[in-house]
Amino acid sequence: MSLYELDSVFKTYHQGPNNIAALRDVSLSIEAGERVSIQGSTGGGKSTLLQLLGVLDSPTSGTIKFDGRDITSMSENDQATLRAQRIGFIFQNYNLIPTLTAAENVECGLVPLEMTKDERHHAVAAVLASVGLSDRSGHLPGQLSGGQQQRVAIARALVKKPSVILADEPTGNLDEETRDEIADLIEQVSAEHGVTIITVTHDSALAKRSTRHLSIRKGIVSES
Ligand SMILES: Nc1ncnc2c1ncn2[C@@H]1O[C@H](COP(=O)(O)OP(=O)(O)O)[C@@H](O)[C@H]1O
Ligand SMILES: [Mg+2]
Repeated sequence: MSLYELDSVFKTYHQGPNNIAALRDVSLSIEAGERVSIQGSTGGGKSTLLQLLGVLDSPTSGTIKFDGRDITSMSENDQATLRAQRIGFIFQNYNLIPTLTAAENVECGLVPLEMTKDERHHAVAAVLASVGLSDRSGHLPGQLSGGQQQRVAIARALVKKPSVILADEPTGNLDEETRDEIADLIEQVSAEHGVTIITVTHDSALAKRSTRHLSIRKGIVSES
C-alpha cells in the first residue's frame, strides 16, 4: 500500500467572480520512505498540493488516501488526529513561537499526543540531540541563527515520530552553507527515522538530494 494515493484531484479556488484551478486532475502515488521534491514556478500549485497532502485543506473533487484511508471523507476530528500523529510540517519562516524556548517549541509538536511529562521531556531531549542542538534547548528563537531555528522546527516536526514530513521551501531563508547543512539533516532524518519527506523547493541543490522529482505547472503535476 502506498503512503499517499491521489486520484483525479482537482482544487479550484473561488475568488470573487473568478475560478482559479490550482490543481487539475492530479493522480499520483507516493511510497513510504521516498524523498520527493516538488518544483515549479510561482503560482503553479505547489503550496496547494502540500496543503492537501497535509490534510490542511480538502480537494474540490477527487480522492486522497493516506495509508489506505480516504482522508477526503473523514470527519474533521479524525483529520486533526491524523495530522497530529502522522504528519510533520516545516516552513520557510520556521514558524517557531518567539516566547518559548527551543525545547518548549519542540514540545509543542507533542501537545496533542497523550504522554506523561517525563516521556515528553525525554522525547524532546532525544530529538534536540539528534538535530545537534542539545546545548541550545533553553534558548529563545531570537537567540538562535536561522539554521538553528530551522533545526528546532525539524525537531518539532520529528518529535511525534511522523510518517511524513512536508516542507515548504525549508531552505528559502538560509545562506548557501546553512542550506547544505539543513539538506544533510533532512536526508539523515529520512534515513534514520524512515520518514517520507516531501519538499517544495526552488533550491536545486536541495531538490537534487531527493529520490524522486515532481514538477508542477499550471496545476498539472509531472515526473521530472
Ligand atoms: N486561498 C486562496 N484563494 C484563492 N486563490 C488561491 C489561494 N491559494 C492559492 N491561490 C491561487 O492558486 C494558484 C496556486 O497557488 P499556490 O498553490 O500557492 O502556488 P505555488 O505555491 O506554486 O506558488 C495561484 O494562482 C494562487 O494565486
Ligand atoms: Mg507556494
